[in-house]
Amino acid sequence: MAVNDLRKMWHARKWMKQTEPFLMTWHAHLGYSLNLFSYFKKPTTVEEVASKHQLDEVLLKRWVDVGLTVGHLKKKRRNKVKSSRQMVTYLTKTSKRSVGILLEEMFELHIPTLLTYKHELPKGDHQEKTPVANMVAETSTLLEAVTLPKVASRLNKQKSKRVLDVGCGLGGYIKKLAEQFPSIQFHGIEIDQDVCQRANDENGYKNVTIEQGDFKDMPFQQPYETVMMNNILYYFTLVERIALIKKAADVLKRKGELMIITPLADGKHGRRFASAFNSFMTAHKDMNALPTKKELQYIAKQANLKIVEERALIKEGGWYLIRLKRKT
Ligand SMILES: C[S@@+](CC[C@H](N)C(=O)[O-])C[C@H]1O[C@@H](n2cnc3c(N)ncnc32)[C@H](O)[C@@H]1O
Repeated sequence: MAVNDLRKMWHARKWMKQTEPFLMTWHAHLGYSLNLFSYFKKPTTVEEVASKHQLDEVLLKRWVDVGLTVGHLKKKRRNKVKSSRQMVTYLTKTSKRSVGILLEEMFELHIPTLLTYKHELPKGDHQEKTPVANMVAETSTLLEAVTLPKVASRLNKQKSKRVLDVGCGLGGYIKKLAEQFPSIQFHGIEIDQDVCQRANDENGYKNVTIEQGDFKDMPFQQPYETVMMNNILYYFTLVERIALIKKAADVLKRKGELMIITPLADGKHGRRFASAFNSFMTAHKDMNALPTKKELQYIAKQANLKIVEERALIKEGGWYLIRLKRKT
């Protein structure tokens, strides 16, 4: 791994840590603004609160998950949750000692104004907006320095000759691996036209091909020893995930391996970051909740696969490598 990649990864991790305290403020602001801490003043279940106050139950559950990881909420018996005394005292609207208005000002006045800088500062505002698909494809590449060595060692063990990368984005994984393994053929599939175009424009490897299309609808003639799916599951609903992984199983050789790199909602590590990421994914109109371990086990069973390894790769972010093989 190049020193520059490691440096980049180190800085990415530093900024991830740096932004983590923001979670607490986001959680506190939402709790104050919508009066959520007062709803959980006494131990109550998410279902009860959602139905009594007409709130979206899934989004409320995500907020509660973040609250539990940052300590604003406490878990009680029988699935009940209770606000910490401090949150009730300082972050409910009716409390005489409330300071929540400070957060409301920050989130509703300061932050939106600070965001306008990006457009106001350059005179005439000719700044191009980075398309979301490009942005997401680029941030995913920051994880590579940590995840690549593990993937490379699996390709070696598998004696892979053909590798498929589903949702390859800019093709960061396959291009770096192509350099290390010149005799392996790497094939990437990317649904987004612009991202795919950029991936191909920046592709100088003879053993890398990147094709535009929706993996779910594409025919494959020859099977692969290795199929990778990195940071892509949250693009799909549970039903779609089953179809996706079944299809991946279909294009695998008999002793082939499916490697999934994904944040887990319920991994042992990185709960704080994962709970915030999960709130974002759930609230985003085009994304879906992060997978859980139980869900992956269920999907594996449906696809006639078994999970052979589950390893934390980036602990602070809750990113895992999950390896699956055929059952028979
Ligand atoms: C978050 S990026 C991850 C990129 C890369 N795998 C990585 O980990 O760096 C996920 C990519 O999957 C692509 N994608 C989503 N659904 C897809 C589908 N059905 N078929 C192929 N690509 C898809 C997205 O356009 C996006 O570029």
